[in-house]
Amino acid sequence: MKNFSVVILAAGLGKRMNSSLPKVMHKLSGKPLIKWVVDSVSILKPDNLILVLGWCSEVIEGFLSGNNIKIVYQEEQLGSGHALIQAGKILRDYKGYILVLNADVPLIKSSTLLSLIENNRETGASATVLIARVNNPFGYGRIILKDDIYLEKIVEEKDATQVEKQIKEINSGVYCFDENLWKALLKLKPNNAKKEYYITDIISILRELGKKVSSVMVEDSYEVKGINTRTELCEVESMLKERKIKELLSNGVTIIDINNVYISYDAKIGMDSVIYPGVFIDTGVSIGKKCIIKGSSYIKNSRIGDASTILYSYIEDTVISEKVKVGPFSHIRESSILKENVKVGNFSEVKKSMISENSKVNHLSYLGNAQIGKDVNIGAGTITCNYDGIVKHDTVIGSGSFIGSNVNFVAPVKIGEGVFIAAGSTITHNVPSGQFAIARARQRSKERKKSTVDSKNSP
Ligand code: UD1
Ligand code: CA
Repeated sequence: MKNFSVVILAAGLGKRMNSSLPKVMHKLSGKPLIKWVVDSVSILKPDNLILVLGWCSEVIEGFLSGNNIKIVYQEEQLGSGHALIQAGKILRDYKGYILVLNADVPLIKSSTLLSLIENNRETGASATVLIARVNNPFGYGRIILKDDIYLEKIVEEKDATQVEKQIKEINSGVYCFDENLWKALLKLKPNNAKKEYYITDIISILRELGKKVSSVMVEDSYEVKGINTRTELCEVESMLKERKIKELLSNGVTIIDINNVYISYDAKIGMDSVIYPGVFIDTGVSIGKKCIIKGSSYIKNSRIGDASTILYSYIEDTVISEKVKVGPFSHIRESSILKENVKVGNFSEVKKSMISENSKVNHLSYLGNAQIGKDVNIGAGTITCNYDGIVKHDTVIGSGSFIGSNVNFVAPVKIGEGVFIAAGSTITHNVPSGQFAIARARQRSKERKKSTVDSKNSP
């Protein structure tokens, strides 16, 4: 079996995005466009993965470092064909197939890419172009067939005649070539409206060289939607979300108002969970069965167990077990763990902390770098003073302890099991298991002095 290498073209200026950021670094569902394409390609384990970069290359290179990608540079942006010529520095003597794709086609599937290579192999073509049939072909290169079968050439929007503009079969910007590619590239000329070296002209050149050129029609044109403008980015984002929502609905998730939620493409949500309006589920979220996610909650990179309820809360990098209740208005973050049946609510913040089974932090608390045992009640207003201005310190509270309201734990501090801490205490020393601790000024009540100010005249 003949091997293959991949070239991703990403040197374009992306002018139509009107941005100081390279187009391919704009995010679709939280992930830069270039990463979508790199992920689809990497799964196939090509011999070489080459990225052609130009403007702002350092931003893209920095982001992709560690992905086993070879970079070549296109110093001047003279067109997509000229960009491909740059990859010749690495691939000129390569004998396998060369899969080329634009970096702005984020939804392309690995299986579709493989089908292009398969097509070259089966038909003996020197090039296979991935094409699609769309309702609105504006902006895409149109596919010109000979005798209604053979791919003859691709005509760009700006060079197309009125008749050609009616054609609904478009070039997706994904191609598979054999080694005749390099011969054809030598003949490329910028004879077009934009005076650029078009990759699409390789098709007619190969035909002139007597080579066979073929095409594969993508089943769902959604997969090859190119992104040139922010409007298109927005459209693809909506399409992605719409599909995700359909998938979730058919898997048994209730979404009360599909137009008023954001759910990332990679979210996993279990059966009979209910997502209320205003919820934002960002990347890396898995929600169990029979959960309720309500109000303007934001969840990212977190796992939520079955039958849990999240109300108007912000949750990031957190693992939540079953039957947990969070909110309203809680902030849970930085590797926190909430075990089964925990309740955290009403303006409480939990950071880098573990709260064990059945414990409650119900009102206006801050727990940072804390380990809370089982069946602990944390009274309203209790906080950990975990930061001394230089480093963070731990607070440990044993199972079965009762913490009265408005307690300050000056960390590092360790509270044993079954401890009772009186409300208003500032705890600076460890408390052994089973003890009662109180650390507050004793109240005194004295005879009230008669005021010298006439209360009637005071403001
Ligand atoms: C291109 C195709 C068009 C196709 C469409 C599919 C050409 C000439 N036209 O049009 O037939 O229907 O994609 O989405 O290719 N690039 C460089 N260097 C350059 C110019 C472009 O690397 O000098 C890269 C871009 O970063 C991009 C790709 O080539 O990833 C395509 O360029 P773009 O300007 O987006 O072409 P389209 O007008 O979309
Ligand atoms: Ca494009």
